[in-house]
Amino acid sequence: MAVSAVVGTQWGDEGKGKIVDYLAERAKYVVRFQGGNNAGHTIVVGDDTFKLHLLPSGCVSGKTGIVGNGCVVDPFVLVEEVEGLKARGVEFDLFLSDRAHLILPYHKLLDGAEEAFKGGRAVGTTGRGIGPCYQDKASRTGVRAGDLLHPERLAERVNDNVAVKQAILGAYGREDELDAEEIVNDLMGAAEVLRPFITDTAALLQDAVDGGDGVLLEGAQGVMLDIDHGTYPFVTSSNVASGGMASGCGLAPRDVGDVIGVVKAYTTRVGAGPFPSELPTDAGVGKHLAEVGHEFGTTTGRPRRCGWLDLVVVNHAVRLCGVTHLAVTKMDVLAGLDEVQVCTHYELPDGTTTNRVPSDPELFAAARPVYETFEGWSELGDGTWQGLPATARTYLQFLREKTGAQIKLVGIGPGRSETVVR
Ligand code: GDP
Ligand code: IMO
Ligand code: MG
Repeated sequence: MAVSAVVGTQWGDEGKGKIVDYLAERAKYVVRFQGGNNAGHTIVVGDDTFKLHLLPSGCVSGKTGIVGNGCVVDPFVLVEEVEGLKARGVEFDLFLSDRAHLILPYHKLLDGAEEAFKGGRAVGTTGRGIGPCYQDKASRTGVRAGDLLHPERLAERVNDNVAVKQAILGAYGREDELDAEEIVNDLMGAAEVLRPFITDTAALLQDAVDGGDGVLLEGAQGVMLDIDHGTYPFVTSSNVASGGMASGCGLAPRDVGDVIGVVKAYTTRVGAGPFPSELPTDAGVGKHLAEVGHEFGTTTGRPRRCGWLDLVVVNHAVRLCGVTHLAVTKMDVLAGLDEVQVCTHYELPDGTTTNRVPSDPELFAAARPVYETFEGWSELGDGTWQGLPATARTYLQFLREKTGAQIKLVGIGPGRSETVVR
């Protein structure tokens, strides 16, 4: 099948960027289908490190990037990213869906205002305006990339929105002054750069599929941040799980063949919300994971919360996304621990056990993880599957058995070449 997809199976930052970069070799197009610059995807090639927020990770290796209709796009960030990557000598083609919604300055202000209003119940968003932009999309008041091609329509839509957003910001007690004319002028500047990229990317991808071109879909975030199937309300505002793939790029669900679920060999989370297998990061194993794994957010630099691998969570994603293969990253970070634990199910307050993610957030927060313990490993060998120590292979084999998905890739370091192929 010509179309395959990469999805995060936990709370994001599983190493999707690295895996997409690796798998992009066989693709012509690499496509973002949801989220925006809340994502931060890292690609390490030799001595060069690239951190991409909106551009698909395949752009680094010269593939054609597509930012699909399901994405929310901060046009100023996109311009900066395109120019930044080109300035580093990377050549790539790009298409931006005319149906993608634009994140405008008032969305970022509203993101901050909503979070402040929630106080102790704040989500811990990335502050990039993601939620407010998707709100406008659902309210049918959004401004789309295609509007950049029609200055009059653009100005009209921005004007209408500014009047309403000003009032909402006021209701939140904010004194920010919005200037519609300034926003439109800045947008026209961004449009100078973005205009050649804007097109009907759904039609382009449908033709690509008909022509047998390789297409790789690049998920952002992780399934536990999915607006329907994640730990609502501590989630992002898009469908991360497989339903979002097809609608977010304009293909049919049956067009998608292999689905590669990226699994970090342990678990991390940025922002608030329940996390059953969390460990304290000021000492012991939690500290090891945070320090050895350099667990700081790629987008916001916030420290990530860390804990053992949770197979209840991973299997939730496997079921929701139809994951066929796993890419297990950061196995090297577990090296040096005497024992490694994996959560296989939860004990609930009423004494029952479950291997499902409870849909009730309070029940999920109260779930007590039950672990299976494995012998650790001190190094990961020569980069081949056979070269992996037996203890690491036992751990991976357990993931394979418990998820029913085949292990395709194993990450033993951040670099493109530090990848074991099964
Ligand atoms: P993404 O959002 O899923 O693309 O992941 P991020 O880029 O936000 O965070 C993953 C971090 O882990 C990045 O710094 C990667 O360079 C790094 N990384 C990815 N795979 C591996 C691996 O196998 N081993 C190690 N040590 N680091 C990895
Ligand atoms: P990648 O693609 C990790 C989290 C935020 C917050 C919640 C909502 O790099 O894996 P938002 O700004 O989307 O409204 O924030 O979602 N979050 C991520 N966490 N990785 C990401 O992306 C994330 N994108 C959003 O921390 O808890
Ligand atoms: Mg990330």
